[in-house]
Amino acid sequence: MKPTPKTFHVKSFGCQMNVYDGERMGELMAAQGMTATDDANAADLVVLNTCHIRERATEKVYSDIGRLRKVAREADRPAPIIAVAGCVAQAEGAEIVARAKVDVVVGPQAYHNLPGLVAQAAAGAAAVDTDMPATAKFGVLPARRKVSPSAFLTVQEGCDKFCTYCVVPYTRGAEISRPFDAIVDEAKALVDAGAREITLLGQNVNAWDDAEGRGLHGLIRALDRVEGLHRIRYTTSHPNDMREGLIRAHAEVEKLMPYLHLPVQAGSDRILKAMNRSHSRASYLALLERVRAARPDIALSGDFIVGFPGETEADFADTLSLIDEVGYAASFSFKYSPRPGTPAAEMTDGFVPEEVMVERLQRLQAAIARDQAAFNAATFGKRCTVLIERKGKLPGQMLGKSPWLQSVHLMTDAQIGDLIEVDIVRADPNSLAGVERLRDAA
Ligand code: 5AD
Ligand code: SF4
Repeated sequence: MKPTPKTFHVKSFGCQMNVYDGERMGELMAAQGMTATDDANAADLVVLNTCHIRERATEKVYSDIGRLRKVAREADRPAPIIAVAGCVAQAEGAEIVARAKVDVVVGPQAYHNLPGLVAQAAAGAAAVDTDMPATAKFGVLPARRKVSPSAFLTVQEGCDKFCTYCVVPYTRGAEISRPFDAIVDEAKALVDAGAREITLLGQNVNAWDDAEGRGLHGLIRALDRVEGLHRIRYTTSHPNDMREGLIRAHAEVEKLMPYLHLPVQAGSDRILKAMNRSHSRASYLALLERVRAARPDIALSGDFIVGFPGETEADFADTLSLIDEVGYAASFSFKYSPRPGTPAAEMTDGFVPEEVMVERLQRLQAAIARDQAAFNAATFGKRCTVLIERKGKLPGQMLGKSPWLQSVHLMTDAQIGDLIEVDIVRADPNSLAGVERLRDAA
């Protein structure tokens, strides 16, 4: 038996969908009368909301568990109840109990059962729930109360693409879309709770659809009509789901921000094929051309993997040349990490040595940094709206985001949640400085 927990701490790793799930788990525990604490080491219940995408992300959970217990031991406190949630929970299930003796293991589709699982654990029995009832959790989660000006809203989960390196189709299951009305209702609730910008989330968010075939663009147009909502974003998208309606929305829907995260992973057709990306370099570039024709100022970002099995220096040069051709505003890049159960993990030919991966990653990141600095430099002198999200380090300084998702800092008496019009007066490689123009320009 352990005492029933009174305080809790949720720590999310990995993608924005985990951030969303982490917030919702927090709301769920708060609705049970528990109090949130920022200090994991002081909490009676710690939820580790984990990521399984790369090996390093997965290993983090085990080192965190060890650290939590060590700190409790050294402070002569009882160890907290530890719940492992997220994609490691889904992938490893009861093995985590065997390996790390945690109290609760709960998958990303089952976390609405967390209170019952925690009660079971407090009664002394480890509790595991990795069922995958499609979207069942959304129906029973408590209402949104207080959120930040820029809020996340999960609209789609899972993936049917089966890129050969990726665990997502296994940990998050098949592609499913939440119902249209439920999403619009949640968006309105988020606005009532303080959101002025909503980022629609999904592993393949642009695959969102319903029986009427409204598509993500239909959803975006419905959200465009939500009063009090000023900005709409969405992430992450797959090139093959980027349909004409969505591209047109970028030209026509003012609230839809000029930003598109469209991972390509590699620039060589040979590697794209081995990755089972089911698009080519040329089709990806042609797609971006259509997007840019619709919204010329759009900021593009991508994900890249270096060192996929069989990647030669010539293949890697194709990735660099694709980056040169596109000119991304931002990008995320990773060393290939073989994941158990994925087809690529069986590809033993053409193994790329660690030092080669490190060297390629450095070259790739230098190219990305160069393009990001150039994109930021091009915003110098522009006037744009900034959504104030938090206080800066200096007195009177606030931080917010430009329409192109750049961080902007400025001196202002505007408050968190205000949308203000700003002139960009300095462009650094990672952020911009602005001067305020009119209040509440939006
Ligand atoms: N190794 C390295 N990076 C990966 N990603 C997905 N799976 C792997 C893997 N096995 C990257 C992809 C994806 C991003 C979320 O993580 O670039 O777009
Ligand atoms: Fe993974 Fe590919 Fe699906 Fe993205 S599209 S989640 S990389 S399988």
